Parts: sequence; C-alpha cells; structure tokens
Amino acid sequence: MSAAIEVMRHHRSIRKFTEQPLSAEQREAIMASAQAASSSSFLQASAVIRITDPELRAKVMALCGDQAYIGTAAEFWVFCADFHRHLQWVPEARTGFAEQLLIGAIDTALMGQNAMTAAESLGLGGVFIGAVRNQPHALCELLALPRGVVPLFGLCLGYPAQDPEPKPRLPASLMFVENRYPARFDDARMQGYDEQVRQYYRTRTGGNKEMTWTGQIGETLVKEARPFMLEFLREQGFCLR
Ligand SMILES: Cc1cc2nc3c(=O)[nH]c(=O)nc-3n(C[C@H](O)[C@H](O)[C@H](O)COP(=O)(O)O)c2cc1C
Repeated sequence: MSAAIEVMRHHRSIRKFTEQPLSAEQREAIMASAQAASSSSFLQASAVIRITDPELRAKVMALCGDQAYIGTAAEFWVFCADFHRHLQWVPEARTGFAEQLLIGAIDTALMGQNAMTAAESLGLGGVFIGAVRNQPHALCELLALPRGVVPLFGLCLGYPAQDPEPKPRLPASLMFVENRYPARFDDARMQGYDEQVRQYYRTRTGGNKEMTWTGQIGETLVKEARPFMLEFLREQGFCLR
C-alpha cells in the first residue's frame, strides 16, 4: 500500500538492542519527525529530555523498575508535557486547567508515536516506558523538571537484537464502530481474539505463558495504578481547576 503503512503495521516493541549507536543524522531525522506532529492550538506543549549521561541513565533505570533495556538502548528519551516554557515568555498565561493536561498528554503522545515510526522506518526499533511515572518526584528531581512539566513516558531506541512477531490487536469491529457506541460488543469475536492472544503468548514464550487478553486486562485493571498521581500532578501545577 505505502511504505509508511508497511512500517506502522509491522510495529512491535523491541527490548533487546545491539551496541550500535544512532548516527547524528538519524537522531535529527527522528527529532524532526516528532516535532512535525500536529499540536493542539499550536501550543507545542512538550519537552523531551535525552539522557546521555551513563550515570544518570542508570539512576533513571533504577527509578523505572530496573528495566534493563533502558540501560542498553542506544537512546533513551523522556517525553514530558510542558507548560513551563510558555510561562517563560507569556507570564500572564493561566495554567493549571485539567484540559491542559489532556492537551500536553495528547501533543506529547503524538510526538512519541511519530518518533517511534520514524525510527522504525530507518530499521531501528524501540519501546515506550510508562515506568517513568513509577517514582515521578524522584525523576523530576534527577532531571530538574520544574513545576509545569510532567514526565509522561520514556522511549528506548536502538538497533534491534531480536525480531518478535507483531502482537495481534483487537479485531477492528471491536474497536471501530459506526455512528454510535454499541450496547454491547460481540462476545464471540472477543473469545476468538482471546484464543489468538493465547496462541501468540504460547508461541512467543515456548509454551511458558498462558494468557488471554481479557485475563491480562483483568490482572491489570483490578489494581490501583499509581495512586499518588493526582497529588503529583497538582504539585506540578496540573489539574488544579
Ligand atoms: C505509554 C506506554 C508505556 C509503556 N510502558 C512500558 C514499560 O514500561 N515497559 C515495557 O516493557 N513496555 C512498555 N510499553 C510497551 C507495551 O507493553 C506494548 O506496546 C504493548 O504490549 C503492545 O506490544 P507491541 O508494542 O509489541 O505491539 C508501553 C507502551 C506504551 C504505549
């Protein structure tokens, strides 16, 4: 269909990398692609911190559940929602609205996905790291993130040293609907998808992981996720009104 669609449809997270670094040209192309993403009201409400200091990278990795690929990826970037920069030049700007968190999160996520796709189109691979939100106070201190800035996710990038199969996604009919939200999604389609996911994990782990999609969602969503988040967001000047 198109080279861009090929790249996007072949996406899979990469968690093992070779030691080969990215060239400055590759890095700049990825950054330019990220910046080319659309931006709500042209606010460009994002900041990206590239962690090049090995000692700092090790400390950040420790704050992110010690996920080894944060240390071994050629690049590790922390994507943040940022309304601090606006206040530098427009001090009368009113911030703290919940809506602005959404704007910052959406703008930044669009940039992150552009970066991932650009990297993949160059034969690189990567994985997003939500674990940057595990200990956000400590991370803000390490990276000197001021009030008005919230770390949202990290991105590991590098040359892949593994070639996993793409993970099967929900059948399109369980995600894309026409005109109105359905009273109920099709249970039979979901059972079929659960079976597909079970097979995917069996193959990927050599039979060591037995898990369906609904099983995984059940395990994830019964836990309280990062209960400190609302307070942290408020401390950083978000969601005050
Ligand atoms: C915002 C976000 C945060 C994520 N955080 C992590 C993470 O901390 N560690 C990790 O190994 N994978 C993380 N992932 C990767 C997801 O697990 C992965 O995208 C999902 O399982 C689908 O697999 P795929 O990317 O290979 O298609 C994250 C993905 C997103 C979008």
